[in-house]
Amino acid sequence: MPVLIAVSSALLILYYLISSLFAPLRDVPGPALARYTRLWELYKNWQGQFEHVTVALHKRYGPIVRLAPNRYSISDPKAIHTIYGFGSKFSKSDYYTPFGAPSMDHKDVFSEMSNEKHALERKKTSNMYSMSSLVSYEPFVDKVNGEFMDALADHSQHGRAFDLFTWMQFYAFDVIGEITLGRSFGLIEAGYDKDGLLHAVHVGSVTYGSTLGLVPEIHPWYLWFQNVFPIESHWRTVQRVIQREIGARMQGVSASDRKDFLEKCVELNKAGKVDEFTINNVLGSNIGAGSDTTGISITAIIYFLVKHPHCLRKIHDEIDTATRQGKLSNPTTFQEGQKLTYLQATIKEALRLHAAVGQILSRVVPEGGAQLAGRHFPQGTVVGVNAWVIHGDESIWGKDVHEFRPERWLVDKEHIAFLDQHFLAFGAGARTCIGKNISLLEMTKLLPQLLRRFDFVPVGNSQWTTTSMWFVKQKIQVKVIDRDLETSRNVS
Ligand code: HEM
Repeated sequence: MPVLIAVSSALLILYYLISSLFAPLRDVPGPALARYTRLWELYKNWQGQFEHVTVALHKRYGPIVRLAPNRYSISDPKAIHTIYGFGSKFSKSDYYTPFGAPSMDHKDVFSEMSNEKHALERKKTSNMYSMSSLVSYEPFVDKVNGEFMDALADHSQHGRAFDLFTWMQFYAFDVIGEITLGRSFGLIEAGYDKDGLLHAVHVGSVTYGSTLGLVPEIHPWYLWFQNVFPIESHWRTVQRVIQREIGARMQGVSASDRKDFLEKCVELNKAGKVDEFTINNVLGSNIGAGSDTTGISITAIIYFLVKHPHCLRKIHDEIDTATRQGKLSNPTTFQEGQKLTYLQATIKEALRLHAAVGQILSRVVPEGGAQLAGRHFPQGTVVGVNAWVIHGDESIWGKDVHEFRPERWLVDKEHIAFLDQHFLAFGAGARTCIGKNISLLEMTKLLPQLLRRFDFVPVGNSQWTTTSMWFVKQKIQVKVIDRDLETSRNVS
């Protein structure tokens, strides 16, 4: 047996060495180990700074960098259109499979690899995410915004320090709960991850997905293992929450009189337009893809504003002027918030400097190969652009690329369109974020309320730290000062 293992290992190593020596892309630069094994990328991903590693690799090696034997990161503005543009034949790579639902036959829109199947599946429910549907979600957001403001007022009154991202996560999860299932997850009220949902999404979807995504062959084996042995999995924790709500709603027990996703899905189901797999997938994707991302983005916006007081002053001025002119209600409507141009530019600029996803959005080169960054890539090669790399490209954003400057978005329409073409925070093309409008709704409504009432003050180290596993999550302790409370204290 030991001899058999030694011989098989030697043959495997020999196979890798020979294939790497004769591979058509053998001269693409990158870390030496990445030429022979996926272990290098796995290890670097595990260290949690992969977005910075990729940026550094491009600085050192140029526009094409090897991440693993068949995975390449591309830093070329034109590559965005070639890889992700509408009509492109590039499909998602199997990296995404472990992020999706365990059923290998009924994949969700996020993890589906086939462009054709994806288009059909996305079409079934895309209307729920459209601009015109947003109005029906406004009361859900208002409700959670009110609870969040009260919670922050309480933090302020007790002089309590808290982790900014954790609380923005509580906010974003509770909103997604309201919009998706008709009930908040109660995280703001509890003040901690009371049902282990955040932990379950972090471990079961994000950590698992971004690790197994690099060795997706293991995923079916893990699923098999999970089915055979009665082990508790983080995926099941999320599923239990969803299944409970679907079951109740299907039996006519409605937790809400408003039109949330579940209600809309049940209607489609009764009309024979979606099956229970699709319902399950839609609800699961909303929770998995729509909560952490929004939490990360709001944290980034507040952090950059705290670090750039002159930008915060401009937002305060904009909010005060709109309020004086009767153009900003309390709570802020989406329509009103959209007209706050400096706020909207700030949202984009924060997402440019801190995109929620820190990895390449990997795709497979289609039949016939493709020309990227001046080089031919054969069919089957996995390639992708990382937002952190392209958002740091001087040729697009100018010499002050690393500065937080919302004004760069306050230019003529033509130039904005050019910048938008290279803005990858929500992905691009047919696989672009389906929930973008929902997150913009949340941010646009929450931020004016939050910023006009609270000052955020870092406690201890004023520099955040970040760790990434697909999502780049932040850590920073802050206190809030409630200006309403200060004013009432001063008056009395
Ligand atoms: C600021 C917040 C958000 C950011 C930065 C963000 C980012 C992204 C990115 C980069 C992708 C593309 C992934 C790829 O091409 O590999 C994506 C896709 C997706 N996002 Fe978001 N997202 C956000 C909010 C949301 C919300 C609120 C939802 C749901 C309610 C959502 C659901 C999805 C889904 C289902 C996909 C897959 C779309 C498809 O392939 O057709 N996201 N998101």
